[in-house]
Amino acid sequence: MNLKSFVRDINDFPKPGIVFKDITPLFNNAKALKTASEELVKLVNNHHVDKVVGMESRGFIFAPMLASQLNAGFVPVRKKGKLPYDTIGERYGLEYGTDELEIHVDAISPGERVLVHDDVLATGGTAAAVQKLIEKLGGEVVQCNFLITLEFLNGRDKLEGLEVASLMQY
Ligand code: PRP
Ligand code: MG
Repeated sequence: MNLKSFVRDINDFPKPGIVFKDITPLFNNAKALKTASEELVKLVNNHHVDKVVGMESRGFIFAPMLASQLNAGFVPVRKKGKLPYDTIGERYGLEYGTDELEIHVDAISPGERVLVHDDVLATGGTAAAVQKLIEKLGGEVVQCNFLITLEFLNGRDKLEGLEVASLMQY
């Protein structure tokens, strides 16, 4: 199945000049959704995983499913101010300005093996911040996987030394 046929380009979203990769057709189609889920699990290969970290918002769509399939726990990373318990945070750069992501301090134990999942790797700022949060808690990132990697933005350079896998590359 060609999953790319379920990704559509939206011109000038969310801002003029940006071509947005819209993956909602992939979610909408029963067969594509199932195939993408199965292929994401296969990407993990034979890594043992204790926790799957997904980042708000679009990382939440597949990360809990991956966790369930891998017999791992799911850990949400959220934008600042959304998590109720004690957190640590990490700032990351956006096109204009910065934002902050947070994780609960007890979400990952030292030595746990962690899979990071998000929908898209673009500049890598989001995933690199998540890597730092996980490592501050003593976790080890065994893979970062994505539905899509936008290779021309060189996000992999910010994840040096980490295994990066994706279902679709542009
Ligand atoms: C998008 C996307 C990734 C991130 C990738 O999320 O879902 O999380 O950008 O960009 P980067 O590699 O340049 O950091 P966004 O922050 O737009 O929020 P959303 O998931 O809540 O839509
Ligand atoms: Mg996101």
